Amino acid sequence: MQIEKRVDDVKAQVKAWRNEGLSVGLVPTMGYLHEGHKSLIDRAVQENDRVVVSIFVNPIQFGPTEDLASYPRDLKADALLCENAGAALVFAPEDGEMYAPDFSTFVDMSGVSDELCGKSRPIHFRGVCTVVNKLFNIVTPDRAYFGEKDAQQLAVIRRMVRDLNMNVTIVGCPIVRESDGLAKSSRNTYLSPEERKAALVLSQAIFAGKALVAAGETDGDRILDSMKAMISAEPLARIDYVEMVKWDTIEVHHKVDCPVLVAMAVFIGKTRLIDNFIWE
Ligand code: PAF
Repeated sequence: MQIEKRVDDVKAQVKAWRNEGLSVGLVPTMGYLHEGHKSLIDRAVQENDRVVVSIFVNPIQFGPTEDLASYPRDLKADALLCENAGAALVFAPEDGEMYAPDFSTFVDMSGVSDELCGKSRPIHFRGVCTVVNKLFNIVTPDRAYFGEKDAQQLAVIRRMVRDLNMNVTIVGCPIVRESDGLAKSSRNTYLSPEERKAALVLSQAIFAGKALVAAGETDGDRILDSMKAMISAEPLARIDYVEMVKWDTIEVHHKVDCPVLVAMAVFIGKTRLIDNFIWE
């Protein structure tokens, strides 16, 4: 497996693969890879001749008070996971390779990016769309793989690809959880043992909300209220949002009468975690 740091080297390799008639899959990540990322790579390896994994902690998607500086990094371990999973190339650029000092072009969006995380993290999706657009231009993948844990991000990327007529198929992959239910996340490493236990309240509320819907409850407020009550009972948890939205447009919605996303962001101590379920 190759590890490349330069855009031109990635482009040259992809061009060589294209000349051989090979298909290319892309798994964009910020590194510190876990089983969730591995499930994306596994799927990409099944569906493409060559798989590129990008590992880049994208500075422009972090707000000024967020965890850019402390975001966990371990390129050596990440490269090993990618190699074992069958990736052909890891693209791990430095910040300067992706953003020239006078970089000034951004991909902006409204609507799908406005609610949920877009409300709490106002510049986040502009940064995500911009870097993903750049990665698509560098790798020109046939397919790109994103986790449903970042469900709004998946909806945002799908909308960007549709609106800008981008020539890539977006593949969403299910959330991967720890055996006790906690959704896998690179940010779980921030949790103290006590916080790790408290963090279970997210998945417990998700499972409870989903069980209510499965039992026939369609009233969004009743579903959200019971989920919020569970979370509020955990002293270390502070709700950022617990919302129901239409799955395709991410508009706030209060009835299970169409495909919906029920999503939450909850602080456990200082760590902001997200989780969700999609009801189609
Ligand atoms: O989901 C992530 O890890 C990031 O938001 C992404 C898509 C790699 C863009 O930086």
